[in-house]
Amino acid sequence: MFLRNCWYVSALAPEVTRFEPLARRLLDEPVVLFRTHDGAVAALEDRCPHRFAPLSMGRMGRDTIACGYHGMEFDRRGRCVANPTQPGETIAPHACVRSYPVCERHGLIWFWPGDPALADEAAIPDYWYYDHADWDTDLQYMHVAGNYLLLLDNLFDLSHINFIHGDVLGSSDRASDMIHNTKSTDRGIVDQWLSPASPLVPGWAAIVNDDWAQGDIDFWMDMHWEAGSNMMLDVGVMPVNGERSRGLQIMSLDGLTPETATSTHYFYGTAQSYRRNDRSILAFWAKAQTYAFLQDKRMIEAVQASMGERWDILAMNPVINKGDRAALQARRILAKLIREEEATPAAA
Ligand code: FES
Ligand SMILES: [Fe+2]
Repeated sequence: MFLRNCWYVSALAPEVTRFEPLARRLLDEPVVLFRTHDGAVAALEDRCPHRFAPLSMGRMGRDTIACGYHGMEFDRRGRCVANPTQPGETIAPHACVRSYPVCERHGLIWFWPGDPALADEAAIPDYWYYDHADWDTDLQYMHVAGNYLLLLDNLFDLSHINFIHGDVLGSSDRASDMIHNTKSTDRGIVDQWLSPASPLVPGWAAIVNDDWAQGDIDFWMDMHWEAGSNMMLDVGVMPVNGERSRGLQIMSLDGLTPETATSTHYFYGTAQSYRRNDRSILAFWAKAQTYAFLQDKRMIEAVQASMGERWDILAMNPVINKGDRAALQARRILAKLIREEEATPAAA
């Protein structure tokens, strides 16, 4: 059901501490995340091998987590290093829990649910602006009670901004004017939207008051996707037929991590370098982004509710619009990768 040999976002970096374990269901598996005393992150199966108590109900040691039921202690590799109710006895070899490869990057904790031998950190999507001194950045989290591919559909078919977000980001009377183009990239797909020569919509007018933006502007949105389900939106406004570098560019991050078949951990963020020391741009945009994503969440949860327990909308014969092109392409690529992976026993 899910692609396993790829990186997913499991948490915002500050959510994972050495003081309190974080329980999070990822790809329908219970996982506990914590840090050891040196700040290294661990991700373990959240199920003690003794009586299956969630380890996340236990307590943190210097470099271990101790089960809250009978005290067995596990290190960051998932090995049991102490069993206090059995003094003097050898610890059974199967007294261990699965540990997952993790990597802290771009302010996020990345998680690899597949074959540990294949976990290559070079495959983590490059959200470079989160590590660049010239960019102001922000990261947030939202839970969505809908299949993660419904979020992918939503992010790719940006014609929806003129309807769901018509009050801040779009306008329904310009929906048919948008120029739309889908391309393959070396790591996935980019879907490009351009709304040419039109006045700023309210959300942008609040942060761009430069001379060039007083009349019509060009508005672009490039949505990038990499398998499994990490996306990046390059969005901005610029002088008509001008250079993007002369406009205001916002880079966004969207990490869609399946919680279950019908729910998603949505990690998102925004970054700007237009006026480096003007925190008001990022503050406004981050607020607008959350406002808009709450509108999306409401719609996606209603869509999932109308699908019931079913998670694959394509199996339900939906009508396909032109705006669905990129999402369909991504879903096809993903389905093929999952089929290939499931046909390779070592990968699961
Ligand atoms: S259930 Fe964990 S030590 Fe008994
Ligand atoms: Fe949206």
